Amino acid sequence: MNDWPYPLWIAHRGAGRLAPENTLAAFRVGAGYGYRAFECDVKLSADGVPFLLHDDTLDRTTPERGIAGERSWHELSRLDAGGWQGRPFAGEPLPSLDAIAAYVRRNGFALNIEIKPTTGLERATGEAVGQACLRLWQGEAPPPLLSSFQPEALAGAKATAPGLRRALLLETLWPGWFERAQALGCVAVVTDYALMDAALIAQLHGAGLRALCYTVNDPPEARRLLALGIDGLITDAVNRFAPAPGALFD
Ligand code: G3P
Ligand code: MG
Repeated sequence: MNDWPYPLWIAHRGAGRLAPENTLAAFRVGAGYGYRAFECDVKLSADGVPFLLHDDTLDRTTPERGIAGERSWHELSRLDAGGWQGRPFAGEPLPSLDAIAAYVRRNGFALNIEIKPTTGLERATGEAVGQACLRLWQGEAPPPLLSSFQPEALAGAKATAPGLRRALLLETLWPGWFERAQALGCVAVVTDYALMDAALIAQLHGAGLRALCYTVNDPPEARRLLALGIDGLITDAVNRFAPAPGALFD
């Protein structure tokens, strides 16, 4: 099995149910619950700056409307990405990947960057995120884990940052996924938790790949996956699952 420097428990979108997802405020909440690894979604501004946002559009999580990737970083960086989650978070900005890297590196946390390209920019986003990670981490441990549902995005990251670990995200087991993950040099596969079973973990571990799941918020489901030997669990329920070894459930 490949070397794996990441904690078992990973806070989803920072800790994006208790604070505005994909903001520094969410990371701080997750850290407050003892989390030491975080997942976030990264895409590019119109001028090529990697920043955190899940959706293609600004509609759900900011007061603005339209495609986020069509705006400059100057414009995006001034938006309120927190107010939709309540008054305490009003004014919380959309973070750049640079800002999040500063936070996780300073605290020794691990980061799983989901490359979440604006539709049509898969390859370019992967390339830019790979480049940014080399600049931001400069070989410091633990290095970010780069994941994506889009093989083209992983191919872009592989082109610019071949030494960073990659993981293929799967919502379904589409034909050829296993060969594609291997061709992309992935060290892990991250599936919807409902897809993960003993046979799939055996297939992945047999090929030297780690097996992770998203988004596991239900204690019985977490117990099932842990009993199977899962390598990572991405969760929104940071107030429910205690990440410290031996203290699994709060
Ligand atoms: O990275 C795993 C998970 O975040 C994938 O789903 O839609 O929450 O980005 P989504
Ligand atoms: Mg994600």
